[in-house]
Amino acid sequence: MEDVRIVLYGVGAMGTRIAKLLLKKKGIEIVGVIDIDEEKVGKDLGEALATNKHLGIKVSDNPENVLSIANADVVIHSTTSFLKQTYPQIATAIKHGANVVSTCEELSYPYATEPELARELDKLAREHSVSILGTGINPGFLMDTLVITLTSLCQEIEQIKAARVMNAATRRASFQKKIGAGLTVNEFREGMKKKTITGHVGLTQSISMIADALKWRLRKIEADPAKPVIAKTYAESEIAKVEPGQVAGIRQCARGIKGKREVISLDFQAYIGVKEEYDAITIRGVPNIHERITPCTHGDLGTVAIIVNYIAKIMNARPGLATMIDLPVPSATIEDMRNYF
Ligand SMILES: NC(=O)c1ccc[n+]([C@@H]2O[C@H](COP(=O)([O-])OP(=O)(O)OC[C@H]3O[C@@H](n4cnc5c(N)ncnc54)[C@H](OP(=O)(O)O)[C@@H]3O)[C@@H](O)[C@H]2O)c1
Repeated sequence: MEDVRIVLYGVGAMGTRIAKLLLKKKGIEIVGVIDIDEEKVGKDLGEALATNKHLGIKVSDNPENVLSIANADVVIHSTTSFLKQTYPQIATAIKHGANVVSTCEELSYPYATEPELARELDKLAREHSVSILGTGINPGFLMDTLVITLTSLCQEIEQIKAARVMNAATRRASFQKKIGAGLTVNEFREGMKKKTITGHVGLTQSISMIADALKWRLRKIEADPAKPVIAKTYAESEIAKVEPGQVAGIRQCARGIKGKREVISLDFQAYIGVKEEYDAITIRGVPNIHERITPCTHGDLGTVAIIVNYIAKIMNARPGLATMIDLPVPSATIEDMRNYF
């Protein structure tokens, strides 16, 4: 097996971290880089990653040019969260015969909000004999795949609850911005209206994935908009200073309703100054299950890992649109990538 050929589509906060991990791995070659950020376009990848190495690959804003010569096995895609926006980018990669692993939240379970686009992507991927996957730490793992995995120990299930509470100060700057850390409450409300603050995207996808895995027919999924968490005491991160009364971050909840009962509840909290970080899953059933990871899993490190760990799995998958519940048991691929084929 030759080295796996990778094109990076998006080298912002996540793409940069993914590139750095790929450069350390054996059996992988980065053969192209696409981004529209004018500070990066035209630069050598080494410079775009703020390293002092010359890597001989230029960042290009022309996906057609890059993909037509790259002969990529996999495009690692990390640009934006909504499938209507990312669809043409992913479709271009597919048309050039590349498998895709993406951080796009809505792609993690696109049947939830974009069933038409999901069908089109599936058809296109089959036509080109490639596979595509949206994943990440959340959505993609902590509040869906891990929950589903734990249900395999249950004979009966009454209700599922998952909560993620994290200190946003440890997360990348783009994340802290999208949760409004350091804004006044009015600025936060304005940001929500103008969609400069998106909050967390993915709770609807996670609930939908869990319900489909269990074959639960939900009557509805209720997803609340992000609510500001107001700081009681001063807190700070490298990029934000939060005075008492200002917004420290967000809390966002969503519920899956079956008949009249709330059977799935997700609670996502990310703000600067969190006292206790954790990921918790509670399943009320036979048996009851209480799983708790403390402190919570680091979101950026975990996302980079899961994206890279799914390179081999997506190359080995059958053609079409895959979600995490269609693929083998999650695992790390920490050895030479060529060992997994
Ligand atoms: N599922 C998960 O667990 C998970 C985890 C982490 C991140 N994510 C998602 O992954 C995405 C990337 O995150 P990030 O923090 O890396 O964001 P980011 O720092 O904003 O980086 C995105 C990069 O993609 C570029 N870009 C945007 N549109 C593009 C296009 N049409 N063609 C080429 N490049 C384009 C951006 O350029 P400009 O800056 O010039 O726009 C930027 O350089 C976000 O949607 C984020 O929410 C998901």
